[in-house]
Amino acid sequence: MTNMLITIDGPAGAGKTSVSRELAKRLNCIYVDTGALYRGVALEVKQAGIDWEADAVLEPFLNRISLSFAMEGEDPVLTSSGKNISSLIRTPEISMLASAISARPCVRKALLGLQHAIAKNNDTVFEGRDMGTVVFPHARHKFFLFADLDTRALRRFKEKQAPEQDLVQVKEMMESRDANDAGREIAPLTPAKDAVLIDSTHISLEEVVQRILLEIHRD
Ligand code: DC
Repeated sequence: MTNMLITIDGPAGAGKTSVSRELAKRLNCIYVDTGALYRGVALEVKQAGIDWEADAVLEPFLNRISLSFAMEGEDPVLTSSGKNISSLIRTPEISMLASAISARPCVRKALLGLQHAIAKNNDTVFEGRDMGTVVFPHARHKFFLFADLDTRALRRFKEKQAPEQDLVQVKEMMESRDANDAGREIAPLTPAKDAVLIDSTHISLEEVVQRILLEIHRD
């Protein structure tokens, strides 16, 4: 029997994380936040101070880092070579750097094997930008979650991940990150042709979860 595989793509603030975690709980799957993996690479690159724009530097560096993502009870934990780096990856600087380095083919390639290995061994809900288009094009259950920019920015602002930023700054950063993520050449943020699109602007987390469960159980 093949493992259950559910992909949830979409821009920042569309509700992917809350929805994916809730779905994983109800379906007894594991949940993987692939954005956290890109953030982990960004953090390591920043801390090492390497010239990440040079492939000759970045590629061997990627071979030396070892990331893993897992839930510990209710808490998502990202480790790098066994060290818990979860509390360091949600800053505005790391968000922007993750978006920039994720456009580099060698970074995407380095994380592809890790994502495939997880899916091979577990029933999984994956959230990200290219889950349904590139990483798991054959997934049976694909969803693309979106919401208008003001709503997404307000959600992120209320999370107070960056208390030093006001709502306007949160919105500007989100818009610029969306543009990077959707505009890059490789694995851009875009719905898979066979994804179910869900606009979460005016509906609750529970309603989104119910719609997804309905689709999954319809098959
Ligand atoms: O989901 P997030 O905001 O934590 O993701 C951080 C960045 O990582 C995002 O701006 C783009 C990149 N990313 C990606 O390119 N592909 C993914 N599957 C997930 C995230």
